[in-house]
Amino acid sequence: MKTSDKVLLILEEQCGNFVSGEAIGVKLSLTRAAIWKAVSTLRQQGYTISSSTKLGYKLEGGCDRLSVKGIKALLSEPLEIIHYSEVDSTNTVAKRLAWEGVSAPLVVVADTQTKGRGRGGKAFFSPVQSGLYLSLLIKPNFTVAMALRITAAAAIAVSRAIEELSNEKATIKWVNDIFLGEKKVCGILTEGVSGFESGKLESVVIGIGINFKIPKGGFPKELQETATALYGKKVPQGVTKNQLAAKVLENLLSLLAQLDHPQFMEEYRQRSMVLNKEITVYHGREQYNGVVRHITDDGGLIVTLEDGSERELNSGEITIRKV
Ligand code: BTN
Repeated sequence: MKTSDKVLLILEEQCGNFVSGEAIGVKLSLTRAAIWKAVSTLRQQGYTISSSTKLGYKLEGGCDRLSVKGIKALLSEPLEIIHYSEVDSTNTVAKRLAWEGVSAPLVVVADTQTKGRGRGGKAFFSPVQSGLYLSLLIKPNFTVAMALRITAAAAIAVSRAIEELSNEKATIKWVNDIFLGEKKVCGILTEGVSGFESGKLESVVIGIGINFKIPKGGFPKELQETATALYGKKVPQGVTKNQLAAKVLENLLSLLAQLDHPQFMEEYRQRSMVLNKEITVYHGREQYNGVVRHITDDGGLIVTLEDGSERELNSGEITIRKV
C-alpha cells in the first residue's frame, strides 16, 4: 500500500477529527516531511485535508469513504476486493491483473480514475468522492455471445441497487446506460480479456461507474445537460458508497449465476427506455432510423427500419428520436 493510502486510512478512521502528525508518524514510522508529502499527494488527488500546527491533520468532506472493510462487511459471501485511492482505470487494472493470472472473482474499486474509460473510446468523468468506480473480474465458462447478456445483467444489478437506496426509478438505455429521468447516472463498460497463450476469451471485466452525488463544482459543461447523480450535494444520513458497492455486487453476482437461464431479461425489457421508441442507430459509418420492437434474451435489439425491414443490433450506439 502506498504511504499516502496509509495516511488516508488513518485520517478516515478519525473521520472529522484532527490527528496529530506525531501520532501518524509513530503509527507508520514516518518523518514529518514524509507525512506532509503524503498529505500533499492526497490533496492533489482531490481530498480536502485541513492542517493545524497544533492539532495536526483532519479529513474534511464527510465520512463516506470507499473501503474494502466497509464493502466486505455488507456482503453475504466473501469476495476479494482491492481498493485504490487513485488509478488510471479500474477496468485497466482488473485486466492487467487478469493477464497476470490473478484468481477470480475479484473486485477493483477506486476513489477516482485519471483515465476512466467509457464505450467507444470515450473518457468517463471520474472525480474523487462523488462517484463509485468499480470493476468486477470474472472467469466464467461462457461463449462470446453471452457478452451482451452480462452487460444487461450488470445494468439490472445497478438499477436494483439504485432503487434499494433511493426512491428513484432507474431505467436502462440499451445496452448499458442507466438513467434517472432523462439523464444518465451510470455507465457500464464490459471488456473481454484473452489469454496470451490460448488467444481465447478467458476473463471478462465488468466496469461500472455510478455518479453517487453531484461533484464539487458540478458536472463539467459538456455533461450538464446529460448527466445526473443519485443524490444532490447532500447524501441522506446513513447511505454510503460502500453500501451502493455492496448492493451492486450482491445483485450482480446473483444475476451472473443465472446467465444460462436469463429470466432476468424480462426485467431488462421492463426497465428499457427504448422499447417501442423511434431511434437513430449509429453503427460504424452507417446511420439509420427505426423503431425498437424487441430485446432478445441475448440482449440484441430488434429494430424495424423505415423501409419495413427488420435488423438485429448487437453493437453500436442509439439515440432516442424526439418526434
Ligand atoms: C460508458 O458510459 O460508456 C461506460 C462507462 C464505464 C465507466 C466505468 S467506471 C469503472 C470502470 N473503469 C473504467 O475505466 N470504466 C468503467
